[in-house]
Parts: sequence; C-alpha cells; structure tokens
Amino acid sequence: MNLNYIIPNEWSIIEEGFDKTQATASESIFSIGNGAMGQRANFEEHYSGKTFQGSYIGGIYYPDKTRVGWWKNGYPEYFAKVLNAPNWIGIDVKINDEQLDLNSCLAQDFYRELNMKDGFLKRSFKTTLKNGNQVAVESVRFLSLDINEIGAIKYSVTPLNFSGEIEFTPYIDAGIKNEDTNYDELFWEVLDIEDRDNDAVILSKTLKTNFYVATGMRFSYELNGQTIKLPHTVIEGEKRIDYTSKKLIAIGETLSLIKFGGYCQSMNHTEDELISCAQNNLSNAATIGFDGLLKKQKEAWAKIWETSDIIIDGDVKAQQAIRFNIFQLNQTYSGEDSRLNIGPKGFTGEKYGGSTYWDTEAYCIPFYMSTKDKEVARNLLLYRYNQLDKAIENAEKLGFNSGAALYPMVTMNGEECHNEWEITFEEIHRNGAMIYAIYNYVNYTGDYNYIPEFGMEVMIAVARFWHQRATYSNAKNQYMILGVTGPNEYENNVNNNFYTNYLAKWCIEYTAENLEKLQNEFKADYDRIIETTKLSDLEIEAWLKVANLMYFPISEKHNIYLQQDGFLDKEIIPVSELSKRDRPINQKWSWDRILRSCYIKQADVLQGMYLFENNFEKETIEKHFDFYEPITVHESSLSPCIHSILAASFDRMPKAYEQYLRTSRLDLDDYNHEVHEGLHITSMAGTWSAIVQGFGGMRNFDGQLSFHPQIPKEWKSYSFKINFRGSTLKVYKNQTECVFTNESEIPVQIIVDGVEKIISKNDLVTI
Ligand code: BGC
Repeated sequence: MNLNYIIPNEWSIIEEGFDKTQATASESIFSIGNGAMGQRANFEEHYSGKTFQGSYIGGIYYPDKTRVGWWKNGYPEYFAKVLNAPNWIGIDVKINDEQLDLNSCLAQDFYRELNMKDGFLKRSFKTTLKNGNQVAVESVRFLSLDINEIGAIKYSVTPLNFSGEIEFTPYIDAGIKNEDTNYDELFWEVLDIEDRDNDAVILSKTLKTNFYVATGMRFSYELNGQTIKLPHTVIEGEKRIDYTSKKLIAIGETLSLIKFGGYCQSMNHTEDELISCAQNNLSNAATIGFDGLLKKQKEAWAKIWETSDIIIDGDVKAQQAIRFNIFQLNQTYSGEDSRLNIGPKGFTGEKYGGSTYWDTEAYCIPFYMSTKDKEVARNLLLYRYNQLDKAIENAEKLGFNSGAALYPMVTMNGEECHNEWEITFEEIHRNGAMIYAIYNYVNYTGDYNYIPEFGMEVMIAVARFWHQRATYSNAKNQYMILGVTGPNEYENNVNNNFYTNYLAKWCIEYTAENLEKLQNEFKADYDRIIETTKLSDLEIEAWLKVANLMYFPISEKHNIYLQQDGFLDKEIIPVSELSKRDRPINQKWSWDRILRSCYIKQADVLQGMYLFENNFEKETIEKHFDFYEPITVHESSLSPCIHSILAASFDRMPKAYEQYLRTSRLDLDDYNHEVHEGLHITSMAGTWSAIVQGFGGMRNFDGQLSFHPQIPKEWKSYSFKINFRGSTLKVYKNQTECVFTNESEIPVQIIVDGVEKIISKNDLVTI
C-alpha cells in the first residue's frame, strides 16, 4: 500500500490519482457525517472493485449472537453490531448504454477532496469507456448539519468527445449487508416502499431491535445549470427502487443529477409518521435547493471552526492532521442528543461493535468541553446517568448488590455487549472513568449543580461497586483489587493494577467528600439522594476503610509504583530492542507470549499519573515515564497522546513531538495498517489534548486554569481557542512569545508558568 498518498493541504484532505489498492482506505479517510448519521466515502456510481460499503445511523444497532460453547455466567446476551443502513447515495450511470465503473475503465485526473472548512466531499475524474466515449464526472456530497436527517449530492457528467445519451438511475437499496456479517445474515426487513413522482421512501426495520427507518431520496435534473424535467421509468424491487432517466446531450454539455436523501428513524419519530417525515424533509431540502443547503453547511462549519480550530504555521501536514481530527470529531458527535455517543470508529466502520467505551469519558470529554458549549459535555455525562439502572443490573448479574453499578465496557443502550471475559469482567477501571468525567466537567465548567442533580447517584453506585469489588487481605491488612485488566490490555487477570486501585480509592474519597458538601450546601438534594439510594453513614465508613487501606504495588528498587503485582518478575527488554519483524506484537505474537512479555499496549500507570498529575511530584511522574515509556508499544491509538502530554510536561519536546506525530496522522498515514476498517475517532480527541494540554500545557485541576506553553521546533507558531466558563480564550504561541487574548466579555484568571494573570475583554497579554 502506498502510504502518504494524501496530498498535504491546510484545509482539505486530497487524493490525486485513483489507486484501487487503497480504495477502502480512502473510503474511511474521506468519510462524512453530521452527528446523526455518517457514511464511508463510497462512490455513488457502481464500482465492481473491492469496496467496503457503509452508511450508519446514530443509535441504530443489532444484537448479534454471542452465545458460545464456553459460556460464562455474566456474559452479555449479545454483541452490538453497528448496522450498515439502506443506501440512498447510489446512482447508476450509463454512457451510451455502457455502465460507468471505475474498476473497468481507467480514471484520469482523479481528484478527491474532503473539504473540512465547508464540510463536503468532492470527487472528479475523466475516463474513457470501452465504447470510446470520454466523459468528465464530478460529484459533490454532504450530510447537512442544518437538517441532520438529510444529505445532498450533485452528480454531473460532461461528454468530452461525443454527443450521446447519458442515463442516470438514482436509487435506494435497502437490501444491504454488513461488512462483518456472518453467514450472509440480513439485519433489515423491508416493510413498505412509497414512490411518488420524483421521490421515494423505503420503510424498513431492524430485526430484533425493531428500529424503524424511512430512507428517502428525491431527485431533479439540471442541464448546464438550468433545471430541466426528464421523464423516468420506475423499477420497484422487493428492497430497492430505481428511477431511470435518459437524455441526449451534446459534446461539452453537462447533465447534473441533484439527489437529496437521508433517514428518519424511530428514535426521533413515531413509526407511523416516518414516511411522511422523510417526504417532508426531502421537499424541504428541495425548496432550499442544493446550493442553499451547501451555503448553510458552510455557515454551520464556519461556526464550528470559529471555536474549535487549531492553527499551525510552518507545518502543513501537522495543520492538515489536526483539522482532520477536529473535523472527524465534529462529524461524529454534535452534542444535542444525550442518547448518542462517540464510537471508537464513529460512522466510518463497523469494528468495535458498539458506540460507547470509556474512551468518551477519559479522552473525549476535554475536547467537547473546551470547544463547545458546556451542554455538550453535560449530554455525554447524562448518557451515563440515564443508563445507571442498566449498570446496576449489569453489576447484579456479576454478583454485586445493594445498588452497586458496573458500567459496561462497550454499550449501545447501557447493556454490556462485549464478551471477552478478560475485558467484560476484568477491565473494570472503566467504572472510575465515569466519575473522573464528572469531576473533570464540574472542575472545568464550574457547573457544580450537576452533582446534586445527577452525578451523585452515579458516584454512589460506583463507590459501592469498588467497596464490594475490593478484597481484604488479612496478611497485609490492606485492600486488594484482584483479577483485573488495566488499560494495558496486554495483561489479563492481574492483581492490584495500580491504575485501577488508585482510581477506586479516588472514586470513594471523591464521592464521600461530595456527599458532605451536598449535606451542607444542597440539603434537599442530599435528602432525596439518601432516600432513593438508602445510603447510611455506616456504609460510607465502610467505603472509606477500603480507600484508606488500599494497597498499591511498589518497587523499592526502582522507587516506582508497579503496574501490578509481580510486574518485575517479567523480563524487561525495551521496545527498541524488539525486531521490526515482531511489530505490531498483537499481529505477530501469540496471545500467551504477549501476556508473558513486559510490553505495554497503552498508557496504564502513566494514564493514572496523567489523570491525577496534581497528586504527584513532577519528578515522580518523570521517573515512572522513564520506566514505562521504553516498554510501551503504543498498539492502542489511545496511547501516544498521553505520552506526548506527559513528555511535554517535563519539557521533553522532541519526545512529545514524536508521539504527537504518531497520534495526529495515525489514520492519514495509516500507521497501524488498518485504516481501511475505519478511523480512530476517539483517539482524535487525544490528539487535540496533545496540543492543548501537551504543547499548550493547559491544566485546570481544582478549577484553576493554567498554562505552560511550549512549541515544537518544527513549527513557526500555533494557536487554539478554549471555551472556559463562558469566556473564549485564545492562546497563540510562536518560538519567542505567547499571547493570550480574551475574545469575550468575561475576564479569565489564568496562571502562566506559575505567574497569575487576569485577562479581560480584548486584552492581549504577551508573555
Ligand atoms: C483499547 C481500549 C479502548 C478500545 C476502543 C482498545 O484497543 O485498548 O482502551 O477502549 O480500543 O478504543
């Protein structure tokens, strides 16, 4: 595979020339989305080569079979499949009766662009068909941010060496499959097809989960930019509807098909109104028109960029990469709907089978919190609050009681849908991330009310879990947490993972501390919570005993916390001594070899030190970094960003930059050789953090905003904005100075390299 084929550009992802071997990689990279739905960059016209077709609707999944012979109590009932949804983008094209298919004719001047500034996907090429006809083709497609149930395509064909017949067949196909389908299973049932003069809607429902979806399309034609009416024939199949129109056009003329399409689904409408809702959306879109919708799209993206752009001067590839990360995060989650979340692959692939991991709480919250209104992060927290009952049920299945909650490792609706025992049962640190996110949110936004209103119930349930999950060791007179998997998934069933134990202790203490605050300052909420949770002082005392007597594995020799008990029994050989042939170890080694090795998949002890940096001396963190970094293989996309942030905090900019490059262009340069499966959406938030928290050194422990700005020597300057408690603070850093500007009415108090500053409206503070 030809890596580095993406042309560097500040605002766009550009591919020039069509290489069939990277068709599926490009389908991932050029994906588009609007928070409610998203799709891979599949061609509109027929393509008989290797392709991975994918169009996804937020919240819609299928509970795939998970029963296995070696079933274990507590396993989830299903594995959630992110479902490929009916295809509304399809347009079959014939030129003088010959099908246009880039697999059978050579593409010339192929150009594909994901325009991140304005939020659309564009493709153009010329080709000569077997019949000798040469055409120029251009398509522009986007999913509207404005009407998030609608997308639009303008598809144009111009004959270059002939006058002849162009035939377009826009269609909807509901007979789709998943890429990861076993045994050719189908997941959709078609219920109804409604066709009218120039629009059609197919109503289908998912098997088992009964999500109803009306997939619609509406089309019209233009000749040289002027609307024309063309007669059509309709072919209605069992699961598909096609509208074919033909037109004889002269050499140099352009025939364009304007196609609006999209989904209305039963999470947002009642079943019986879905068809009319889809029809209304389509006629609404037609009234606004393609250009009108595109104009609104540009305005909507301009608004997003206004607060979330990061500008890097002096390194186009870095600029392109950070915008790509920010763009994809915004395409995946727009923040209005607390039932939706950010899947590790977003709308760009099917892997990971579920939408929500701890990635959201541990990685994504800071990005959305700083670049958007606080409601967005609040909605992400509410997602978990609304699933508390399911988390309690989940814990009950595993033998916990009295309102203890274990949030799932992977979920669509609050139910666990991950069935690898070492993850489902053991990777329990995820529970702590739920509470850390609440702390992070309250700290950053100052919206303390979230805790009495919603957060505390989650905190109590999680504290109960940790109390029950800990084991008292008579021998040590301390509490152990046995049989876990830490963030480093290359160790399973270990005892006393430092990160897990630390988080458990912290969760209990934070909960107890806030209960006291509620009792003093939010009495009515406190009484309501005590009443519903039946929490007693005695129970809190028992929790605190666990926290106070929590055990942590240490090495006296190295003067560090160990990742887990017995870690030093391993042979410690730095990654630098591993042969290239052995990398990535998760593809080259057997699982048992990985487990016996010292290699760390992703930040683990260091993840803890990153989250709780304020509780450790810098030298202590540095010592841990020096011990763990050399044996970390970063085979999770979530790893390099944390290492980059920590390295920057010790002013080790070359290391920080090295790790930054790895995270920021992970997908664009396909570091892990898997971009064809989809993008690493959640780690993109980590990339944002690597600039803002890493190079910018932004911290806000205890609500105090501070910065320690640095810049990689490879860049001339960079700047970012953060939304902090109603103010918009811009941070600009070049090789000699750092400038803070407050673009809002509200003054912000910050600490820069230990010095306090108050920055008022339009102040320009240079340091
Ligand atoms: C990582 C997990 C992560 C998951 C989804 C795994 O490879 O080890 O920490 O939650 O991917 O991103």
